[in-house]
Amino acid sequence: MNDEHSEKMKIHVYPDPVLRARAEPVLDIDGDTQTLIDGMIRTMYAAPGIGLASNQVGNLTRVIVFDRHPGEDDRSPFVLINPEIVDGEGKIVREEACLSVVDFSAEVSRMAQVSVKGFDREGKPVSIDAEGLLAICLQHEIDHLNGTLYIDHISSLKRALYKKKLKKRQKES
Ligand code: NI
Repeated sequence: MNDEHSEKMKIHVYPDPVLRARAEPVLDIDGDTQTLIDGMIRTMYAAPGIGLASNQVGNLTRVIVFDRHPGEDDRSPFVLINPEIVDGEGKIVREEACLSVVDFSAEVSRMAQVSVKGFDREGKPVSIDAEGLLAICLQHEIDHLNGTLYIDHISSLKRALYKKKLKKRQKES
């Protein structure tokens, strides 16, 4: 199968160093950016996931895709290029998982409400005020662009537990 329109992208998993790199701003939204965005949206829904950052598909430019209404049946894909959290408040704790951190989930504390700015795929400025699951998703995905994973926000004890589990699995395979 070599149909690029249906092909999923490879999702890089921890401890792949690309997940620790800081993605660079997109300076020119060109054809490659459009191809990347389409591939990321396809890959996110195929996984299935509610958000995906460019690092996760091995691309170090600042692009995130996410579902605007996570948890609902109707798909509402959204793109943000060079996203930035400009404001945030409150606190929300919820169990998180990540397509790049396999077979693990943990409670993470985040801001309950965030305002995020960025650009859409046509280069138009966009701002989003989000709360709840969408606010969590945006913080999680923007973290990825800075080389941060949700397991960096959990206790060192829990993180050590995950690393141990991962090592055991690598030995078994
Ligand atoms: Ni993630």
